[in-house]
Amino acid sequence: MLKIALSKGRIFKETLPLLEHAGIIPLDDPETSRKLILDTNHDAIKLVIIRATDVPTYVQYAAADMGVAGKDVLMEHGGDGLYEPLDLAIARCRLMTAGACDFSPTAHQKLRIATKYVNTSKQFFADKGQHVEIIKLYGSMELAPLVGLSDLIVDVVDTGNTLKANGLEPKEHIADISSRLIVNKASMKMKHAQIQSLIKKIAEAV
Ligand code: ATP
Ligand code: PRP
Repeated sequence: MLKIALSKGRIFKETLPLLEHAGIIPLDDPETSRKLILDTNHDAIKLVIIRATDVPTYVQYAAADMGVAGKDVLMEHGGDGLYEPLDLAIARCRLMTAGACDFSPTAHQKLRIATKYVNTSKQFFADKGQHVEIIKLYGSMELAPLVGLSDLIVDVVDTGNTLKANGLEPKEHIADISSRLIVNKASMKMKHAQIQSLIKKIAEAV
């Protein structure tokens, strides 16, 4: 049995053609089905549908053999127990700091940063020698500066429309993001031939 962890939405949609190229076709649509384990056209291959942030955790603990996760999520997770053999070049965006267009920090001000990327943000500001207070949020980060919860946010930006619609602008670039294929280290050993053949077919599709 081979279990592949995917999140609903853009990652599922953009991974589907890659899986199809490798001959794997899900028999259910996660947008309409309430099932969390989807059958595919192969009896021995299942798709496990979970939150984007949880994908590295499932793969780390071998609850799924492989999965697809954004580099933002992988940086935040840390990558323990995982191989990252392939950049799928899907769900591309940038991890950025952002804030109000007229915001400029005063010297020695301890900035408040609202984000769901706590570890990555800590590292980014520590590397710059900047003392910050990180406030953990789970979504709608753009709201935080508008209501005085934070000075800046750290979030992914694609078109910049969400920032613009809320009177914010991107400030500093942290990382270019795309989704990666990840594989549990033990699964890579135990199911080497099957996983390598799948990676090869998906790589062709990329
Ligand atoms: P969770 O449900 O765990 O909070 P999420 O809501 O961020 O996660 P998605 O919106 O499906 O989940 O995003 C999945 C991945 O897609 C992100 O980790 C990121 O790498 C990428 N991504 C997020 N927003 C965009 C965007 N606007 N454009 C392109 N890629 C994006
Ligand atoms: C993501 C992210 C930003 C937005 C950026 O949210 O959290 O809010 O995309 O994209 P843009 O620069 O093109 O506007 P998403 O649309 O995935 O919704 P979510 O908050 O439910 O994850």
